[in-house]
Amino acid sequence: MSNPDVPAGQPPGSEWWADAVVYQVYPRSFADGNGDGMGDLRGVTERLPYLQRLGVDAVWLSPFYKSPQADAGYDVADYRQVDPLFGSLADFDAMLREAHRRGLKVIVDLVPNHTSDEHAWFREALAAPPGSPERDRYIFRPGKDGIPGSGEGNRAPNNWKSIFGGPAWSRVTGADGSPGEWYLHLFDTKQPDLNWDNAEVQEEMRSVLRFWLDRGADGFRVDVAHGLVKEAGLPDWEGVAAMVEGTPEVKREPSPPGDAPGAHTDAEEPHRAVSPVYPPSPFFDQDGVHDIYRDWHRVLSEYDGDRMMVAEAWVEPAERLARYTRADEMQQAFNFDFLLAGWDAERMAQAIESSLAASASVGAPCTWVLSNHDTVRHTTRFGLKDPATFPKGIAADDEQPDAALGLARARAATLISLALPGSAYLYQGEELGLPEHTTLPADARQDPTFHRTKGAETGRDGCRVPLPWRQDAPGYGFTVAGAAAAKPWLPQPDSFGPLAADQQDGEEGSTLELYRAALAFRSARELGRGSFAWAEAHAPESGVLAFHNGGVLVLGNLGFASAPVPQGYTVVLSSGTEPASDWSGMDEVPVDCTVYLTKD
Ligand code: BGC
Repeated sequence: MSNPDVPAGQPPGSEWWADAVVYQVYPRSFADGNGDGMGDLRGVTERLPYLQRLGVDAVWLSPFYKSPQADAGYDVADYRQVDPLFGSLADFDAMLREAHRRGLKVIVDLVPNHTSDEHAWFREALAAPPGSPERDRYIFRPGKDGIPGSGEGNRAPNNWKSIFGGPAWSRVTGADGSPGEWYLHLFDTKQPDLNWDNAEVQEEMRSVLRFWLDRGADGFRVDVAHGLVKEAGLPDWEGVAAMVEGTPEVKREPSPPGDAPGAHTDAEEPHRAVSPVYPPSPFFDQDGVHDIYRDWHRVLSEYDGDRMMVAEAWVEPAERLARYTRADEMQQAFNFDFLLAGWDAERMAQAIESSLAASASVGAPCTWVLSNHDTVRHTTRFGLKDPATFPKGIAADDEQPDAALGLARARAATLISLALPGSAYLYQGEELGLPEHTTLPADARQDPTFHRTKGAETGRDGCRVPLPWRQDAPGYGFTVAGAAAAKPWLPQPDSFGPLAADQQDGEEGSTLELYRAALAFRSARELGRGSFAWAEAHAPESGVLAFHNGGVLVLGNLGFASAPVPQGYTVVLSSGTEPASDWSGMDEVPVDCTVYLTKD
């Protein structure tokens, strides 16, 4: 690891994040501490012993800041306040103190691409005239076909579409009620994009970083990290804007040879994925974003302890993503190639290989992610007829997953990801094997993508359902003991009952116990800091994925026939539900199962 900012005396590569297992808490759905049906920071504090026992190293909290909640908090009205829904700054401080006391690091979410339209700056912008410094903090433009210089126009300034559906521009109304300029929002109309060419915007976000660093945050998950800078002139673009799925099939241009870790000129960097039809998007992965992360890197280095940033950047190919983690930028980036590979041995093997190589070329650790709050849970995706598909949510009249098959595969995929060197991210509830809620009624749905596309996209509510803690309690114990329970903000499916944490705790073969065992094994064997080499048994064309990490052989069977346990090896952990006493006698790895093996 070539991080120049490791505190003196700490050997390179020993930063906590290099091999950390980070647990994503989606605060509104994790645990409700005050009984209002919405998760909160007190709930997180109450459940920290559970996370410590699970064996994770850090917690990443999705936004809990003051917000009208138009996009579940990714629309921030005040970056320095906790929304009353989630508690107060004192609750945050208490949670952080308790996490640190238990040896857990805390990563907070930073949303720098856009604010809420209820942020003081946007209100000031609306009250100020075109061309004013207040409007310059955002991306306001006159429309097309207007009287030149009037700031008016009947058509949006360009043809960009919002990632959430509909146009990416909305028109404001002047003080006299007449139609005025247009503002850009790559997401919801209530999420106006900031203008990152504006010095005040840059200074404000530095100050927001310092605010949370001063309070003791160990790092930031940077939202839409690839989107902050837009191409000059905001040219029209014919592509389909998408963060996660629906990205047009891309043809990759050959990449020039990778450069030395740390050294970089943006002009010489690997080519971006280019569609056969569309040129690269003018609003994602622009070279200018890297200046921002170099700047933030310097801010983080002012602090003692190794604070970190992880990029949420849906960027292809892996070499382009690696640029976000060069030695003077961020420390990690989510590896979405791995997530998108699905339950498919060849695609998974390819994703592992290319992402390890790309990360190594810049001296950064790889990350491994299977689920998050924007994607259909992997337990459910892997139970679909095509287990490498990536639906935008699942509704009652869509194909329903085979729950048992999906769970077996999800457990097997998790053992693969936790044995790979680098850092792993878990999404709350995956340790319980929770499925997506695939039959949520339309009137319960809250995701703006559902509403902006008039239901054409089901959206992300199905993976955001409040967690079940106790089978025999109202709301499956989502509200922690002592508080009267209101209904959870999204209804929970019946399938959550038997999967509640109290039903799995101490139960051999349960998913919770599998995660605990896998995390303990990973830590004892230091797999996160280990080495990687494909094993002799590796045969992705037959569905077998096999690799060595130090003295451990990992064999995942994604195929259609049992795979023999290689001679001289014994199973020490299996993703199956058979009792541990059976492992030593196993001579075959069943389909949809992963095992860890050591030499006899
Ligand atoms: C977050 C989403 C959010 C979007 C806009 C992301 O990628 O993960 O949940 O809707 O950014 O902030």
